[in-house]
Amino acid sequence: MFKPKLVVTIRYPAAVEERLEREFDVRRETSGRALSSAELLALAEGADAMLITPMDRLDAAFFERVSKSVKVISTYSVGLDHIDVKSAAARDISIGYTPGANSDATAEIAMLLMLGAARRAYEGQELVRTQSWSETSRPILGLELSGKSLGIIGMGRIGQAVAKRARAFGMQIHYANPVELSQDITGESIYHRSLAEMLPLCHFLSLHAPETAKTHNMIDAKTLALLPHGAILINTARGGLIVDSDVIAALKSGQLAAAGLDVFEMEPALNPDYLILNNVFLLPHLGSATIETRTRMGMICLDNISAVLLGKTAPSLAQS
Ligand code: DGY
Repeated sequence: MFKPKLVVTIRYPAAVEERLEREFDVRRETSGRALSSAELLALAEGADAMLITPMDRLDAAFFERVSKSVKVISTYSVGLDHIDVKSAAARDISIGYTPGANSDATAEIAMLLMLGAARRAYEGQELVRTQSWSETSRPILGLELSGKSLGIIGMGRIGQAVAKRARAFGMQIHYANPVELSQDITGESIYHRSLAEMLPLCHFLSLHAPETAKTHNMIDAKTLALLPHGAILINTARGGLIVDSDVIAALKSGQLAAAGLDVFEMEPALNPDYLILNNVFLLPHLGSATIETRTRMGMICLDNISAVLLGKTAPSLAQS
């Protein structure tokens, strides 16, 4: 049976691996590190398709040189910031992605970060794990989510899933989005046309916008200063949305009481100043990292690839 040649750069959950082996001639390079553009180009030579992750960066230069044999590339992510989609279109290469597949998992991580940051979970963990917890330990007093306001930047699927969960915690939801959404979708949430209008009202701020030229570094010293003193910042979207040095300065000054961060601009590297701060709750990009979600995402990627190669309608292709 003919099997299309597929480049694969990581290991996938078991069900996805089984399907990979069954349906594709897999050309895999899993070095445990991000592959360079030259390595990706070499792997793509003569391949029909590629299954990549946000660690694999495909820029204009990559698309100028990639093998003519490649018809479709699907990324194991909802984010497309690591792919020059316009250059892909210029080469007639379809780009698949996984919108909607990780909304619940990422919203759960946003809640974990809110709770972890507000209730000082890192300090609590450290006290227990270093066996320093005693009758006379200093109390670790946090802040409650209940009764607080949450500002959401980017009210797409993930923003909406966070709003639903935060409401159940007794939070009042505000959101900033390019367009106001219907009340059927947003319920009681309050729409703001601008960050300047919304930020002063937010005890918590959670980021759910894609990273684009417009949103890159949107959270800087200027925007942080608009928040009430002692606000809490949550980022499960992309590290490039924030200016790390400004967030660190705000965490030191108390302008931010705490932050919960799952994503970093140069991940897996992060600004080392975060590591010495007690009031930042850090995770290693776990937003979509559940067996259910990662399996679903892998299957959507393979559906995208198969459909394009067979000339059928693919479930989710990026628009250039
Ligand atoms: C996404 O889907 O873009 C996630 O951030 C990747 O895990």
